[in-house]
Amino acid sequence: MRIDIISVVPDLLKSPFEASILKRSIDKGIVEVHLHNLRDYATDNYKSIDDYQFGGGAGMVMMVGPIDRCLTDLKSQRNYDEVIYMTPDGKTLNQGIANELSLKGNIIILCGHYKGVDQRVRDHFITREISIGDYVLSGGELGAAVLCDAVIRLIPGVLGNETSALTDSFQDNLLAPPVYTRPAKYNDWEVPEVLLSGNFPKIEAWREEQAYERTKKLRPDLLDD
Ligand code: ADE
Repeated sequence: MRIDIISVVPDLLKSPFEASILKRSIDKGIVEVHLHNLRDYATDNYKSIDDYQFGGGAGMVMMVGPIDRCLTDLKSQRNYDEVIYMTPDGKTLNQGIANELSLKGNIIILCGHYKGVDQRVRDHFITREISIGDYVLSGGELGAAVLCDAVIRLIPGVLGNETSALTDSFQDNLLAPPVYTRPAKYNDWEVPEVLLSGNFPKIEAWREEQAYERTKKLRPDLLDD
């Protein structure tokens, strides 16, 4: 998979890809991530990418011109499956969207800033608008990092143990069951006996029941879906 991220502060996006699973996925050649500075597509001496909004009002709007030039440049080199815009008024990211995007080949992620982008960008270039939650960030960069992490870890070969992404919370609309590791007894806190039993059908049944009970208690809304 190739991910091109367009931003006015691309440096914000460097560190998430320089450690742990995301770095490994890049080192293994499973994912390519390319950061693009939108200011490189400005045409004036000030490298302007935003301007005042028509009709008045506080806050600058990202102009269509630099975004058009950047997208046209990228699209002239390869086909893209999606051009995603990170924005608080997009569809809230969930595991289903992450699963879907993990199957794509090439995607572009455009990070919004200020008051957002000129509506014509959304109307003519964007295929999908994604929010990472009902709160407003300073820009789309941290949202883009969250999206990339959620998507990349699902690509086959990224996680050492292929099944571990399948048993994540949300994959079946249930939260994950509790997990334990050694020691089996710490102070007087004991690990549930069934997990030490070696009886795998019984362990599986226990995990399913725990996942259901935990979801009912913490996120009953997931059971409604
Ligand atoms: N940009 C600003 N706020 C955002 C959010 N909640 N999700 C995605 N992009 C954003």
